[in-house]
Amino acid sequence: MIDISKDELPQHIAIIMDGNGRWAKKRGLTRSVGHRAGMEKIREITQLCSDFGVKILTIYAFSCQNWKRPRREVNFLMSGFKRYLDKEKDDLNKKGTRFRVIGRRRRLSSSLQNKIEEVMSLTKDNKDFFLNLAIDYGGQEEIIDAAKALIKEVVRGNLAVEEIDIDLFKQYLYLKDLPSPDLLIRTGGEYRVSNFLLWHIAYTELWMTPVFWPDFGKKEFLMALKDYAKRERRFGKIREE
Ligand code: IPE
Ligand code: IPE
Ligand code: MG
Repeated sequence: MIDISKDELPQHIAIIMDGNGRWAKKRGLTRSVGHRAGMEKIREITQLCSDFGVKILTIYAFSCQNWKRPRREVNFLMSGFKRYLDKEKDDLNKKGTRFRVIGRRRRLSSSLQNKIEEVMSLTKDNKDFFLNLAIDYGGQEEIIDAAKALIKEVVRGNLAVEEIDIDLFKQYLYLKDLPSPDLLIRTGGEYRVSNFLLWHIAYTELWMTPVFWPDFGKKEFLMALKDYAKRERRFGKIREE
């Protein structure tokens, strides 16, 4: 194991899994092969999180903006999600994982939507580990959807504008019952957040690596954990002497 105490461990890790396409290109393979390898990684990293005592993992799998990719690639990714769910659902449930998809979802095919419903309802009472997969997810879109829902409540007379504060706003977001990510990992060498969890990462520690997602493994995972353990999270305060 590693010499990181429990209070130095992130409780919630978010991952922007990027670099599948470049990983494949480097090997003279098609982008689809990269995406297949990327989907396989999810299982490995979920297991690593749970082995090391991280309780919550939120993975960015497909953004609202990714619909702009070629149709063939989008279709491949969508069937990959379905395959992943079919393959993993029983194991996730056996391991006490509560699985959720965050995102708008209504643009997904009805068969994928049904599959997601099935796995979410199968695992809804589990509490040992929380795995969230962001599909058709956008941080700006999430905030807009929350604002619309709040405005509707105000218009209906159920809510006064003055009552809206950070805690109340959070209740209209996807992960309302979970703490915000402590650590955000991005693979693939870009230094941006690409519309991921914009609300939730207000005070999240960031860790970026040039390693492409299909090559991300225990070594990089431990590097991220060790780096996180050294960070001083101040949340606007000053260090207490
Ligand atoms: C990340 O890999 C997976 C998704 C966005 C679905 P990319 O497909 O973005 O890979 P690169 O960035 O082109 O290498
Ligand atoms: C971010 O990766 C989205 C996911 C990992 C699902 P992108 O490859 O879409 O991000 P950009 O376009 O490089 O910002
Ligand atoms: Mg990319």
